[in-house]
Amino acid sequence: MPAPLLAVDADRPDPAVVERAAAVLRAGGLVAFPTETVYGLGADATSPEAVARIFAVKARPEDNPLIVHLADAAELPTVARVTPLARTLAERFWPGPLTLVLEADPRVAPASAGLSTVAVRVPDHPVALALLAATALPVAAPSANRSGRPSPTTAAHVMADLGESVALVLDGGPCAVGLESTVVDARGARPVVLREGAITREALGAAAAPAPGQDHARGEADALGAAEAGLPELRHSPGTRHRHYQPACAVEIAPPGDGAARAATLARQGRRTGLVGTAPAPEGVVAIGTFRDAAALAHALYGALRAAEEAGVEVLVIEAVAEEGIGRAVMDRLRRAAGA
Ligand code: TXA
Ligand code: MG
Repeated sequence: MPAPLLAVDADRPDPAVVERAAAVLRAGGLVAFPTETVYGLGADATSPEAVARIFAVKARPEDNPLIVHLADAAELPTVARVTPLARTLAERFWPGPLTLVLEADPRVAPASAGLSTVAVRVPDHPVALALLAATALPVAAPSANRSGRPSPTTAAHVMADLGESVALVLDGGPCAVGLESTVVDARGARPVVLREGAITREALGAAAAPAPGQDHARGEADALGAAEAGLPELRHSPGTRHRHYQPACAVEIAPPGDGAARAATLARQGRRTGLVGTAPAPEGVVAIGTFRDAAALAHALYGALRAAEEAGVEVLVIEAVAEEGIGRAVMDRLRRAAGA
């Protein structure tokens, strides 16, 4: 039987509905809820049994750790060893789409998949914050999709993937950002980006800039080339080893502005072709969506991947965006979807 799907006002969620969901979490059950990035699949991060349920219903590889969500940055010392860098970034970006990796408190060990570290964030969504405050627990929440599927940006996406396996789904409408949070290792003096997201490397670099005269790593950054100079280092998180974000249709990335022409060519070759581009779909091409800038593509991308599958598209052409700001995260997810 599908889970109850409860509509909540995204800005002022009904406290009775929030309390019902919090009770499920306190009892070790699973609740899907909206955040500003994507929908999360929540469970009590301090309970090995509750966290095991997340891994089971998502069919998630056991070595891929979960993000712990808090209602307030003031709770950070209860789940992790706080560093000066973490304090700076939390002050600047929380609540918001930034996840900090720090040494873990043993209390949240179930979320860490055997690592000594834990990933933590305070989401910027009134429903998520109300739920977290009501449970008074750190809540482990990966994206609420089956492993290997695009992350859900609406409650309907959650129902399609996990409707039969969760206790409750809170529907707060579409997620504002549409891509998962930026993940940053904040254990050292400088941020190391493990997954790109809406908090851009440019913004992190500016927030974590050392005081003048204390920048010993500057020469090293310059050696990476002018475009990368001053940006925090990018490394790969445990999750990036695993297959991710691959829809059932093929995805082809077209250069900016060339999507419609490329889709028309594929359609003429007899392939059922869809388009997500800056211009409308030409005749013979399935119109999946149009976007104006990188933020709009971020917002629409995962829904477009699902829509293309539903439309029976064989190959989905998506136009690239410039690799700057949130465009870096968009291109990262696009390349994963394309299997590139
Ligand atoms: O926006 C988001 O982050 C969403 C919402 C629900 O908050 N959550 C999300 O969770 O995207 P998930 O599980 O789909 O992605 C978590 C990412 C994975 O790449 C995982 O490997 C990484 O964070 N991660 C978690 N714990 C980590 C740790 N201790 N060290 C390094 N990476 C970690
Ligand atoms: Mg995920």
